[in-house]
Amino acid sequence: MDNLEWVFVLAVNFNFYRMKQFLIYGLCISFLCACAKDKVNDNVVLECFDEVSFSQEIEPLMNQSCVGCHSSASQSGGYNFEGYVNIANQANQILGAMQADGFQLMPIGGPPLSDSLIKHFQCWIEQGTLDN
Ligand code: HEC
Repeated sequence: MDNLEWVFVLAVNFNFYRMKQFLIYGLCISFLCACAKDKVNDNVVLECFDEVSFSQEIEPLMNQSCVGCHSSASQSGGYNFEGYVNIANQANQILGAMQADGFQLMPIGGPPLSDSLIKHFQCWIEQGTLDN
């Protein structure tokens, strides 16, 4: 081979090498981005960054998911979850039932509430079951 041929071979190989490099970097970067995105979402869901509101979040959640069977009119299992006093006084039993931890899983028959909703309820307890 003369010199010109060598330059050609090197150039082709170099381009091929660069292309492979780009592909591999590209894959790694999109993979890392996907992981980073998951992480951010997890943090939002699984930590108590903001104060949970009883009137805006906890009471509507209870009314929507639990009060149909646990009201003054229909106290399934003897539990009434209408209003702040009932919910705050029985917060640990409610959380236990949402997590099927020491209590039967609720809502009865499943499916369980989302991790994010359960975490909200747990944050509300950790923040002192505020009537806010
Ligand atoms: C479709 C009706 C229904 C819904 C909705 C429902 N429950 Fe219940 N719940 C029941 C019944 C019925 C019982 C009594 C079960 C038994 O005694 O076997 C019960 C019992 C319980 C108990 C006592 C369980 C135990 O192991 O002692 C708790 C606490 C409770 N519910 C919390 C909740 C919470 C919190 C929600 C909402 C996330 C909820 N329930 C939604 C019907 C329901």
